[in-house]
Amino acid sequence: MDHEFEKRLARCADETQRLLEKLLDAQLRAGEIARPERLLAAMRHGALNGGKRLRPFLVMESAALFGAKPAASLRIAAALECIHCYSLIHDDLPAMDDDDLRRGQPTVHRAFDEATAILAGDSLLTYAFDIIADDETALSAKARLTLVALLARAAGLGGMAGGQMLDLDAAASAPGEQQIITLQAMKTGALIRFACEAGPVIAGAPEADRERLAEFGSAIGLAFQLADDLLDVTSTTEKLGKATDKDATAGKATLVALHGADWARRQLDGLVGQATALLAPYGSAALHLTQAATFVATRET
Ligand code: IPE
Ligand code: IPE
Ligand code: MG
Ligand code: MG
Ligand code: MG
Repeated sequence: MDHEFEKRLARCADETQRLLEKLLDAQLRAGEIARPERLLAAMRHGALNGGKRLRPFLVMESAALFGAKPAASLRIAAALECIHCYSLIHDDLPAMDDDDLRRGQPTVHRAFDEATAILAGDSLLTYAFDIIADDETALSAKARLTLVALLARAAGLGGMAGGQMLDLDAAASAPGEQQIITLQAMKTGALIRFACEAGPVIAGAPEADRERLAEFGSAIGLAFQLADDLLDVTSTTEKLGKATDKDATAGKATLVALHGADWARRQLDGLVGQATALLAPYGSAALHLTQAATFVATRET
C-alpha cells in the first residue's frame, strides 16, 4: 500500500485517539451525576485499544473533499468510532461471537465481566449522539440533527444492529447470496456508508454529492466485510489481533464460504473499480478516498 496513504491513515488514527482520550476522561460533563470508574475503564479499554480507525478516516476525508473544517469533522469521526467500538464489544460477547481477543488484547468482557461489557457498549452508543449534539461540535443545529438522524438509522434496527440479528439468524438457515449481501450491507456497510455520507453533510455540500458519497460508502462497505471474511480464512491471529477460522466453525454465512476465496478476490477488484468510478467526477481531489477503497480491499489487518 502507498506509504503516504498509510502515514495519513496513521495521523488520523492519532487524532481520533487524542480526542477519544479527552472525551473519555474522568471529568464530569454538565448534567452528569457521576462517571463510575469501572464503567469508564471498560469504555476506555474498548475504545482506546488501537484499531485502524478507518471509519474516522473516511469521515475526515469525505468532509475535506468538500472543504469542511477538520475540527467539526473530527468530532463526528470520534462519535462514529464510539458506535463502532460498541458494536465490537457486543459482537464479542459470549451470546454473540464469543471471542476472547480483540485488537490484540482481551475483549472487554474478558478484561472486565459480561455485565460491564454490555454497559460499556450501551454507554459508548449513547455517548456518540451526545458528542454530535453537543455545542462543542461547531456545526449548525440543522447539520447536527441531520447527522444524528443519519447515524441513528445506520446503527439501529434497519442498519448495524439489524444486520447483527440477521447474521445470528443466518448461522442456522443457509442463506443465499442476496440475503448475505443484505445482512452485510447492514451489519458492516451501514456505518461505513454513514462515514462517507457524513462528509458532504458536515460541509453542507449539495444533495447529489451526498448521494454519490453514500453510494461510494455502500460499495466499500461491502468490500470491507468481504475482505474481513477473506482474512478470517487466510490470515492469522497474530496478524489480525483477533481469532481466525471463526466463521466456518460458527457456521457463519459469508460469501467466501459460498463462492470461495478466488471469487472473493475478483469481486473485491470489481467493487474497488466501482467505488473509484463513482469518485471520478472529483478528479485528483478524491485521491485519498480512492486509495481508501483500495486499502479496504487489499488490507492485511
Ligand atoms: C471489524 O472492523 C469488524 C467488522 C465490521 C468486520 P475493523 O476491521 O474496522 O476493526 P478495527 O476497528 O480496525 O479493530
Ligand atoms: C462484525 O462482523 C460486525 C459488527 C461488529 C457490527 P464480524 O463478527 O465478522 O467482525 P469480527 O470478525 O469479529 O471483527
Ligand atoms: Mg459477528
Ligand atoms: Mg465477530
Ligand atoms: Mg469477521
